[in-house]
Amino acid sequence: MKNPHRARLRVLLMATCLAAGAGGVAPGALAAKAPPARNTPAPPSDAAVEARARALLGQMTQAEKVGQLVQFFYSGTNAGATTSDASAKPYDADAAIARGEVGSLLLVTDPNEVNRLQRIAVENSRLKIPLLFGFDVIHGFHTIMPVPLAMAASWDPKVAEAGQAVAAAEARAAGVNWTFAPMVDITRDPRWGRIVEGAGEDPVLGAAMAAAQVRGFQGSYIGAPGHIIAGPKHFAGYGAATGGRDYDEVELSDSQLHNVYLPPFKAAVDAGAGNIMSAYMQLNGVPAAANGWLLNEVLRKEWGFKGFVVTDAGGVLSLPRQGAAASPEEAATRAINAGVDLSMEFPGKSPMLSLVDAVKADTVSQDTLDTAVLRLLEAKIRMGLFENPYVDPKAYAAQIADPAHAQVARTAAERSAVLLENEGGLLPLNAAKTKSIALIGPFADSWHDTLGPWVFTGPKPTGVSILEGLKAKLGTKVALSYSPGVPVPERIHKSFFDGKVNPPVPLPAFDAKSEFDKAVALAAESDVAVLVLGEAQNMAGESASREGLGLPGRQQELLEAVIATGKPVVLVLMSARPIDLKGARPAAVLDVWYPGSQGGPAVADLLMGDAVPGGKLPYSWINSASEAPYSYDFMPSHAPWGAATRYWDTATSTPRYPFGYGLSYTTFAYANLAVSKDTIAKGASLDVSFDLTNTGKRKGEEVAQLYIHQRAGTSSRPVRQLKKFARMALAPGETRRVTFTLTADDLRYWSAATRGWVEDASAFDVWVGGSSKADLAGEFTIAP
Ligand code: NOJ
Repeated sequence: MKNPHRARLRVLLMATCLAAGAGGVAPGALAAKAPPARNTPAPPSDAAVEARARALLGQMTQAEKVGQLVQFFYSGTNAGATTSDASAKPYDADAAIARGEVGSLLLVTDPNEVNRLQRIAVENSRLKIPLLFGFDVIHGFHTIMPVPLAMAASWDPKVAEAGQAVAAAEARAAGVNWTFAPMVDITRDPRWGRIVEGAGEDPVLGAAMAAAQVRGFQGSYIGAPGHIIAGPKHFAGYGAATGGRDYDEVELSDSQLHNVYLPPFKAAVDAGAGNIMSAYMQLNGVPAAANGWLLNEVLRKEWGFKGFVVTDAGGVLSLPRQGAAASPEEAATRAINAGVDLSMEFPGKSPMLSLVDAVKADTVSQDTLDTAVLRLLEAKIRMGLFENPYVDPKAYAAQIADPAHAQVARTAAERSAVLLENEGGLLPLNAAKTKSIALIGPFADSWHDTLGPWVFTGPKPTGVSILEGLKAKLGTKVALSYSPGVPVPERIHKSFFDGKVNPPVPLPAFDAKSEFDKAVALAAESDVAVLVLGEAQNMAGESASREGLGLPGRQQELLEAVIATGKPVVLVLMSARPIDLKGARPAAVLDVWYPGSQGGPAVADLLMGDAVPGGKLPYSWINSASEAPYSYDFMPSHAPWGAATRYWDTATSTPRYPFGYGLSYTTFAYANLAVSKDTIAKGASLDVSFDLTNTGKRKGEEVAQLYIHQRAGTSSRPVRQLKKFARMALAPGETRRVTFTLTADDLRYWSAATRGWVEDASAFDVWVGGSSKADLAGEFTIAP
């Protein structure tokens, strides 16, 4: 029988590969919806879902209702004591499920365990309401995609959509119904470890990636076969953590919030996301899990979000710690009244159970409780859990063995890479002339680090290292030698994830002094040295912020010693931050992020020219951590003449590489910009067209970008803002006329002067080009 999910995946995969070769440019097409799956059963109507949920609600006791609002971490057969109270007695979560005190679990990824737990709910609980299984499916489940930041660097939403569709298929087959992803937090401070999980600094790129990931996870509707519920997080503002320190408070102006931090969430909601996760930290003093303005006013009333809201782990119980409630009971009351439906918790006595008393005391209305319960029941109905609560472990095994999944991962890794330097056209390596390559560095043969963070041991992912990828590619044609050179650097403070969910895989032991010397000697003997340096996978992600941006451990020393051999050096960077190379200048630099399961083969293809880098930076590459936070869309100041010299103790105050930057193995030129109308009325649209030419000798892909600047208005507007982009492939010598349409939505913004959205009459600058330094300019005016 035809598998509709696989058919859809293949369509997506083809779309990803073909976006490159598509003739005629329709930039919007990159954000276009994937065709709906054929043979897919139609979703039940909203009215039918609601009626069924209400009928069930009518049979529930108050205790059963509040039980639906509890989600527990679950690991192993017994979840043990609550982590927030280590002295508490072991808690029997299985018994709590049978009593109907738990509606959802997280961290269960084994299909047999899913079935065992589901059986308790479906066979032993009074109303037989199935459990909803959630999990952090961040960039893959078994097959690991490049990290989300990397997928954003592809500037190709189809890459993210296809990657998350694979992740969803594998997760659903294991019994996972819902992912705590995508993370759509805008980040302008690369010290913050979670930068790896988002799409970087820009709201337009961020919104495109947010919507694409929701489509990938969910398919065309909630409950579509082979898909899972998407839970964009962390609502809202988490990416602006003070000082880049994880979990620290966030102070954001309303203007920044509306214009920069909320648009990716709005895009995710518009794409149909079924869940939203509230953030941990205080936003302007109010913890996000108690922020009724965010959850009830903005998310639900303004945006019309119909799904359920979950707190981040322990978010309700942390309200007293954050000084926003005097007791766990008050915390539960505050959270549900603020718009939280489900409390993610470490197992124990849930504060949500106290809501039975809160309704009696009238501090929570019956309607508020019932509405939250209905949202959870509706999610379970839509996911078909009442009809199909169990999964087939054999089907899971078949699902993860699908070779199409590895292909999606490999394509994504190739399309994510960003070429930062390529002096003298060192890359791609000339297979005919390069007789020997020295592959050096602690990450060259570490498949574990290649996967990146947020990869769990549960689903047992594997990956192919760069050494393995290059060996397979080169065969005996090129002499390939290898040395790690230095050990994988270690964190000073261990992550609380270390040893639990992401145990590092140690390299074989070696003598530090002799291995360093050996690496340098190998470089000196070879035609070219390829160094794979960066950050270990536990140096990015949650609770993984840094104070500096240098290469950890002895990697800088190794880089400098290899450069000193005089041999051509290619630096392959594996990290999710701009790395400060402190003046070391390798001839070629290829940023491959954490490229995932197929990182090895993908990097081998890129180095040897079987794939051409076409990604662009999703953030400004600042020179050092002391320049953070930074974004290219800063406001014009009274002193524009000093923009590049804001600090006197450094030669430049501008980033090393601008937002949107990335080279190719070919070159591109922009010309003949035309604006369709000099003047438009408010609410009207206009077209901006230009010629894009591949001026080099190879086929390659360029991400054309359009930026605007509003010269005068109710508020000051940024010096430039990305509004449109499209990635397209051009043959050598090919010229294509590209047209972007600017609409009223692109030209309006939220102003603190009027406390609302405005479209001003003003003159505008417009630029097109291959980065935020785009210099092919035009102008237009919105008439008063
Ligand atoms: C805490 C993290 O902030 C969140 O992103 C994650 O989904 C939950 N833990 C569950 O693992």
